[in-house]
Order: sequence, then structure tokens, then C-alpha cells
Amino acid sequence: MKQLIDKLYEKQQLAKDEYIHILNNIDAASSEYLFEKAREVSRRSFGTSIYTRGLIEFTNYCRNNCYYCGIGSGNKKADRYRLSREDILDCCKTGYELGFRTFVLQGGEDNHYSDKDIVEIITSIKQDYPDCAITLSTGEKSSSSYQKYFEAGADRYLLRHETANDEHYSRLHPESLSLADRKRCLYSLKEIGFQVGTGFMVGSPYQTTATLAEDLLFIKEFNPHMVGIGPFIPHSETRFASEAAGSLELTLVLIALIRLMLPKSLIPATTALGTINPQGREKGILAGANVVMPNLSPVSVRKKYSLYDNKICTGEEAAECRFCLAGRMEKIGYQLVVDRGDYKG
Ligand code: 5AD
Ligand code: FES
Repeated sequence: MKQLIDKLYEKQQLAKDEYIHILNNIDAASSEYLFEKAREVSRRSFGTSIYTRGLIEFTNYCRNNCYYCGIGSGNKKADRYRLSREDILDCCKTGYELGFRTFVLQGGEDNHYSDKDIVEIITSIKQDYPDCAITLSTGEKSSSSYQKYFEAGADRYLLRHETANDEHYSRLHPESLSLADRKRCLYSLKEIGFQVGTGFMVGSPYQTTATLAEDLLFIKEFNPHMVGIGPFIPHSETRFASEAAGSLELTLVLIALIRLMLPKSLIPATTALGTINPQGREKGILAGANVVMPNLSPVSVRKKYSLYDNKICTGEEAAECRFCLAGRMEKIGYQLVVDRGDYKG
């Protein structure tokens, strides 16, 4: 095990059967060794600085119905909301004062916002906060829409591939969605010039160590600027309501493996990780993550953006989360920095 970890550390890649071997056999002692290596690589790339992104969940309407997701169109109990451009700008104002220099606009696939609306939102944010980066996370769109967003000033785009195995993809999504389309979007975003993030859930139903190894191979091949991974957590109003959540340990192992594969990539310690374990985000940083994404959405809508049950930070004001996270990072020897936190390849 140690030899394989050293090999990954040196070569930044392994073969599929080697990833499978690690995932099937890693124990607590070798995990600790892996985390140490990942921390070392992360320190070399970023020192003890942790980048922050202010997350603005601007709509929970969604035309899709991914089987795992609490805001899918099939959830008739979801209390739907949309933020206006003014609401979004208010979030940015609060965020800017708290030291955020990246705003992540995330939402369901909501056609209520036309390309023109999105462009106007981007333009306004860039006008008021020219020193900030904008990350979009609004799902699958046409290349021409992506192009318009980019020209308006959006810098980055998050679109998790969810699983790199076709059959697994079709067991997590309705027929209207395909892995091929998802990949087309990802390659088009990269070609347009976005810093692109992809990723997947750990422990999603029907996932195996073989599909996880395929995720790692895809990530290496695609070479994203950002990689978001977090545990799957069931949502009571979805068809996966009674499935088990993904494990903390396996999520940490995957964060560390990705850090060794992509030393400069931006990897968040996700809210989902903080939800399955009270120290999840700290553990994520100590396994090689270097980004946190506290919530900037108005408290009045926080609970409504529930992709999964028991999400943390749904009652706290933005400032509370900002200071809570600063304290958490300091306790483990890291600092939140005021910085756009761009990818530096
Ligand atoms: N548990 C954990 N993560 C989820 N996501 C969606 N639903 C869940 C869930 N039940 C993740 C998906 C999506 C991202 C925005 O949130 O990976 O890409
Ligand atoms: Fe939100 Fe700690 S980060 S309360």
C-alpha cells in the first residue's frame, strides 16, 4: 500500500487496478500515511492559506429530477424560491465586506432565468466588484450560452460529472440526462476558457470501487482546475431516501488521492463533508483540500436549498459562518485569505 501511495506521489497517476487495490485495501494506518503525503503536496502548492468562496444559492427550481437530489422536480414538497438580481447583489455586498473575493452562483437548472438575465447578473457583479471572481454552477447549457456567460465576465464553472461510468450514470439520473452530454459540456467549458471544476459524490447508490477508479481516471484525463467531492447524503423526499450515506473515511481518501494526482487543483472541503461529521471540513483540509465555501444565501432561503437532509449552516448568518470557519481553520494551523484564489497551473 505504501509503495502505491509513493508511486502516485511521484508520478501523479496510477492504473485502474492500482486505484482499485488502494480503495479495496486501505486501512487506518495507510490512510494516515496518504493524508500526510497529500498535506505535504497541498502545503507546497498553497502553504497554509485556505481560499474561500461565498456560495449564493439563487434558485431551487430545477427542470431535472436526479434521483439523489432534494430539489429535483419530483419533490412536490420543496418550497421553491428564486433570488432577484438585487437579492444576489445584496449577498455579494455582505460577502465582499466579509472578505470574499469569489462568488459562486449555484442553482437548479431553472429556465426562468434567460441567458440575458444571467449575463445581466454577471455584468452587475463585475461592475460593483471588479476584483472578484465569479463562478457559475447552473448545470448543463448550450455552448453558446456558456460563451455568453464567459464574455460577460464569468471566470469559472462547476459541473460535477457525478460518475464516469455510463451505466452508473443512468442509475442516478432520469433518461433525459447522459454522461456523454455532461462530458460535452465540460469539454466545451474548458475550451471557452473557464476554470472548470468537476467531481462526484462518494457513496452514491450503486457506486463500486471500480466506478470510483473510473472517476479518478476521468479526472486525470480531463485535468480540471477544481474538483468537488463530498459524501452522498440521502434526502427524505427522493427515491434514494433510505440509502446509506457515503463514509467520511472514504471521502477523505479520495480527496487525498486527487490531491496527489493534481497537486495544483482547487479542492473544497465541502458542506456535505461537514454535515456527516462535525469535524469533516477540518479533516478534509488535513487530507489535502484547500478551499472552503461558506454559504452567503439569505438565511430566509437557506433551508429551502436542501439537496440532502440535515445540511449544516442553514440557520447561521453569513458572518457567523465566516468567523466560525476562520476559527476552525486556525485551530488546525491554516488561515482563510482574502484572495480570488485562482488556479495557478
Ligand atoms: N448528497 C450529497 N451531494 C449531493 N448533491 C446533490 N444531491 C446530493 C446528495 N443527496 C451534489 C451533486 C451536485 C452538487 C451541487 O451537489 O454532486 O453536483
Ligand atoms: Fe456555518 Fe460554522 S461554518 S456555522
